[in-house]
Amino acid sequence: MIDLAGLKLVKEHIELDAVDSTNRYALDAARPGLLITAREQIAGRGRQGRTWFSPPGENIYMTLTLQNPDPRFCLVTGVAVRAVLTGLLGGVEARIKWPNDILILGRKVCGILCEARGGIAALGIGVNVNQTEWPDELKHSATSLKIITGRKLALDEVLQALLHGLDYWFALYQSQGFPPVRAAFLEHGLYQGSQVLLQDGTPGVILGLSQEGYLEVEVDGQRRSIVSGDVVAA
Ligand code: BTN
Repeated sequence: MIDLAGLKLVKEHIELDAVDSTNRYALDAARPGLLITAREQIAGRGRQGRTWFSPPGENIYMTLTLQNPDPRFCLVTGVAVRAVLTGLLGGVEARIKWPNDILILGRKVCGILCEARGGIAALGIGVNVNQTEWPDELKHSATSLKIITGRKLALDEVLQALLHGLDYWFALYQSQGFPPVRAAFLEHGLYQGSQVLLQDGTPGVILGLSQEGYLEVEVDGQRRSIVSGDVVAA
């Protein structure tokens, strides 16, 4: 049972058994301060039109709605979730791969999909908590909190920790703007200073993160800002 007392961002919690996508549900509901969680997603959405594998009962599938969509919400969410997951891991550091994949020891433990419609932002977060098996196409790139810690975690406890982390980081963003979020991203981001391939295969070197939240990459001696997409280690 989630305790909403003391949480500034969440006004209402709807717990679903099965849903196509918590993001779809939240965007259709179209009101801020809504937390949607589901035991299972039948058509979980990933970034770049991908699907998010969402088997029942093992993981967190959640969407939180906020007012006034802002492109930097995705980065605030990533920084918040990374901090919470690192806290749960007892010494193993989770890192952020731009824009907001959370990786542990190089494998993805969490994906974040931020969508917006009609003045409402939907922050969709999928955390692999107790899952230990994946289809062939994911089994070399995914991990879970259970695999790393060697123990099963209570989903409600992980969710409660995530909500407090989101509250903390969004309050900080509201009061101090992007600098603390950017600093946390640069401290805990993956690939800073290293060679990467852009989505079209072009090689580059990661320089940092702009004030707008774009990834700054050096390509052929020129600084380029990457607004969307993915990068992979070269
Ligand atoms: C990614 O591609 O890495 C983003 C995955 C986001 C998955 C979460 S699970 C809860 C929420 N509902 C969705 O349909 N997607 C997000």
